[in-house]
Amino acid sequence: MKPIALTGIKPTGKPHIGNYLGMYQPALSLMEKYQGIYFVADYHALTTMHDPQALQELVYEVAASWLALGLDPDEAIFFRQSDIPEITEFTWILSCFTSKGLLNRAHAYKAAVEENLELGHDPDEGINAGLFYYPVLMASDILLYGSDVVPVGLDQKQHIEITRDIAEAFNRTYGKVLNVPEGIIQEAKVPGIDGRKMSKSYNNTIPIFAPEKALRKQVMRIVTDSKRPEDPKDPANDTIFALLRFFASPERLEEIRELYVNGGAAYGALKKELAEMILEHFAGARTKFDALMQDKSYIDSVLKDGAQKARQIGQVTLAAARKATGID
Ligand code: TRP
Repeated sequence: MKPIALTGIKPTGKPHIGNYLGMYQPALSLMEKYQGIYFVADYHALTTMHDPQALQELVYEVAASWLALGLDPDEAIFFRQSDIPEITEFTWILSCFTSKGLLNRAHAYKAAVEENLELGHDPDEGINAGLFYYPVLMASDILLYGSDVVPVGLDQKQHIEITRDIAEAFNRTYGKVLNVPEGIIQEAKVPGIDGRKMSKSYNNTIPIFAPEKALRKQVMRIVTDSKRPEDPKDPANDTIFALLRFFASPERLEEIRELYVNGGAAYGALKKELAEMILEHFAGARTKFDALMQDKSYIDSVLKDGAQKARQIGQVTLAAARKATGID
């Protein structure tokens, strides 16, 4: 059996180019050497998404995007997090090996508390316990299937460290029951249309599967300075160029770089070219995505099959943990 690569995506927004470059693509390219275990993290989404229709729709969109972008469900184990009842049981067991102080210091929770304090509110105002427990549920996702590596973006690095901490605390108590995973941290920053990191929380994303017109429009909205085409520009400090890096051929990128440095780079034309490149890069995936979204029962059946396989692996770990602790 190959070592296991595991990752999840929270269905809280439309899949965008930042997700693709930071997550889908690295995870899919690991499949040569690893058994991929990939899932839609709907329980994690529930910490912030309380609109049932929107949650269900986004679960389908995220599932369809994995499949459209090349996940082969005969190769990867692919499922919905909440289809695995063992995950919540294991979360409880792990929580008894998680230091509360560690959760106090977790970025998302800490940021929410700091925001409350700045506003003069009670520190925990509006914060649900699910958000506080988020890292334990994530540790459960990772440890239940004995993951060896976890490809994630830089923003998830702390969660991997917390996971390792929990696994080590458990193993110190009971011997080596849990596999301690390594993160594969994707450092490449993908800028959004406003130049900040592309993120649904900044509302600056380029969605992969938006209708063609909307996608083009979003690319045209990339923020630039007011330099004229003939002015020399610094390609290292430019959002269009940063995105072109991911999609242009090396030759074309070099030509464009020279236009930046020597003058001749017109923002409008380059944005049009970038939109073309993106549409071309994702042409096959976009067609597939639309077809999948018309056939949700197919998506359901893929996820159900994957859940069965995932449960078989997860049940072994849970049984070992129950036994180690004396619950069984
Ligand atoms: N927290 C991750 C995110 O927001 C999603 C996630 C949930 C995850 N469980 C995971 C990622 C387990 C890797 C491994 O992107």
